[in-house]
Amino acid sequence: MIIAVSGKGGTGKTVVASLLVRSLAERDTYDILAIDSDPDSNLPEALGVEVERTIGEIREELLEKRDSLPPGVSWRSRLEYEAMRALVETEGFDLLSMGRPEGPGCYCAANHVLREIIDTLAKNYDYVIIDTEAGLEHLSRRTTQNVDTMLVVTDTSKRGITTAARIRELAEELQVKFRDIYLVINRATEDTEQKLQEYAREIGLEVIGIVPEDENVRRYDYEGRPLIELPADTPAFSAVREIAEKIAR
Ligand SMILES: Nc1ncnc2c1ncn2[C@@H]1O[C@H](COP(=O)(O)OP(=O)(O)O)[C@@H](O)[C@H]1O
Ligand SMILES: [Mg+2]
Repeated sequence: MIIAVSGKGGTGKTVVASLLVRSLAERDTYDILAIDSDPDSNLPEALGVEVERTIGEIREELLEKRDSLPPGVSWRSRLEYEAMRALVETEGFDLLSMGRPEGPGCYCAANHVLREIIDTLAKNYDYVIIDTEAGLEHLSRRTTQNVDTMLVVTDTSKRGITTAARIRELAEELQVKFRDIYLVINRATEDTEQKLQEYAREIGLEVIGIVPEDENVRRYDYEGRPLIELPADTPAFSAVREIAEKIAR
């Protein structure tokens, strides 16, 4: 099952994605792959994982060396080998970082092969959680195009909700296929919750969960501590755990 977390920048995609990884990893029965698909992302930090190489770097390196590959070594097997090396394995989950998007020029062949490799890799997992770039272009260009559940994260502004509606349209335009799409309202406070539910109804997106403003999340980010280490009973994590239970029944 592939879950993509999207939304405007700064709305809390990485907070939701990392806590979702933790919720699913806690169950011990699943193999989980987290994909960091946002070039500005902090998913590895949020998950407390160090990344040495990204898929973007592998592509650049191989394109530079393409004429000097020893004979008999195919592009594909080389890319496959390098992608496996870029995979970071931890006890609860694995992580793959996409890195910077391709520069100008035609890298289509490399991208095509990489996409196939990642698609094949993803099939080895029960859950794949993708922290996407705000614009979704990454999702359509470089990682798998078929998403089971799209979570659109919004902050509590009306503009955030409008952007969420646009993301759904964008996903359709970019032909990212998804089975379900839900809204996650993040940083909610008591006085904003009801109004937001109304906005969501107006744009026709079902709210799957409301993540409260959480002082611990703010503090951990401020102190540079991994969100995956948040106290188990902190309100934001409890809320994301409930979302995980709804998605992963
Ligand atoms: N529920 C929350 N409570 C408190 N702070 C939050 C919450 N969600 C997000 N934040 C803060 O908002 C900022 C942006 O969150 P982040 O997940 O990095 O956004 P995105 O990945 O969408 O750009 C971070 O500094 C984070 O600490
Ligand atoms: Mg982020």
